[in-house]
Amino acid sequence: MVPTRMPFLGNVWVTTTYASTSEVLRTKETFVTNPRNAGRRGMAGFRWWMPTTLRAITSNMLGKDEPDHRRLRKIVERAFLGQNIQSMQIKISGLAQTQWDILEREAEGSNGQVDLVKHFSRPFPLAVICELLGLPEQDRSKILRWGVRFTNIKNSLDLFRAFPAIWKIGHYFREQFEDCKSNPREGMIKDLVHAEQQGEELDEEELLATAFLLLLAGHETTVHLIAAGILTLLRHPAQKAELTQDWSKLGTAIDEMLRFNSTVQTTEPRYVASDTNFHGIQLKRGDTVLPFLAAANADPLQFENPEKFDINRSPNQHLAFGSGIHTCLGLRLAKAEASTAFQLIFTRFPELELAVPTSDVAWSEGVGTRSIMNLPIRLRPGH
Ligand code: HEM
Repeated sequence: MVPTRMPFLGNVWVTTTYASTSEVLRTKETFVTNPRNAGRRGMAGFRWWMPTTLRAITSNMLGKDEPDHRRLRKIVERAFLGQNIQSMQIKISGLAQTQWDILEREAEGSNGQVDLVKHFSRPFPLAVICELLGLPEQDRSKILRWGVRFTNIKNSLDLFRAFPAIWKIGHYFREQFEDCKSNPREGMIKDLVHAEQQGEELDEEELLATAFLLLLAGHETTVHLIAAGILTLLRHPAQKAELTQDWSKLGTAIDEMLRFNSTVQTTEPRYVASDTNFHGIQLKRGDTVLPFLAAANADPLQFENPEKFDINRSPNQHLAFGSGIHTCLGLRLAKAEASTAFQLIFTRFPELELAVPTSDVAWSEGVGTRSIMNLPIRLRPGH
């Protein structure tokens, strides 16, 4: 581990190996996510002037330790089980096709060239998560507008600029909860409101926090799994050809994209609950540790030639979805969306290519994520 200073978090210890990253994430008694359980007053980087909605949205399951974490995760967990994701597959394919048709129309109007992030990899996962939550279809474009304000937050000023969008989403969700009480509908919002009405399972603040978490975690991450995945395949044409001739390799290919690109570079911070000697470093109660997933996924002690992209890599125990009690709840959904997207795109346009040199592709500078801002593509070569 190495000490460093991070925006919002201040002094932190960053893990640099697979072994230490995985151990931090799995040792929930020593490394907690609720700073109060490590003797700290509140979340690192949090300020009194931050609005109540922002404070409310941070009281989600990611910032809770047991038993609160389990209580909150249990309410929504069922919807993410394998069989439920499978039963959503037709819906997911339909949403992908609708969005791809929109992209094609956009490309026709601009010489076959189009931004894959703006017209597909961002709106498609948003449509899926809105569907899962049971949010009205006509609200998607405004949710998309608000959601974009959350991307690429590098410092307090960016966060400050995002406040209006945070407030609007909070207000919107509260309206949806109210509406759902008198007009029950399909989707997870209904399950959450029902749980709140039961009184015991989650309070109003946690209801809002859970809806926010599902919307943001379920959206932003998958956008970049798809965009970075497409870019990576285009940069490795032989492997792209191998995959498109044998789609049974898609599962291992997606795991390799997750490992190779590590879009979510770090998890949420962990706080040291009691003094401990960890991998030769004396940590004190209250210290902050940042599990660096990107370093773990590139550790040569765990992965042979980690710098090499290999769609056949097996085994591939990457940590892109974290590990331990907070392991990503949406991992099956994310993989289902990515599988659908890659097959659809390369079946319809096997010769799709980048419209700019790779060096011109704009990557974000946000803390914790490494994402592609725009990915200009051409549907057919030489168009
Ligand atoms: C490529 C896509 C995705 C990646 C790389 C990803 C990554 C992660 C990671 C690393 C964590 C653990 C964070 C920590 O330990 O601090 C996490 C947690 C979580 N993810 Fe994802 N995620 C993805 C997609 C999704 C989707 C589609 C959803 C669906 C709504 C989702 C919902 C969640 C939730 C609810 C948690 C918190 C789990 C808990 O605290 O128990 N994620 N994700």
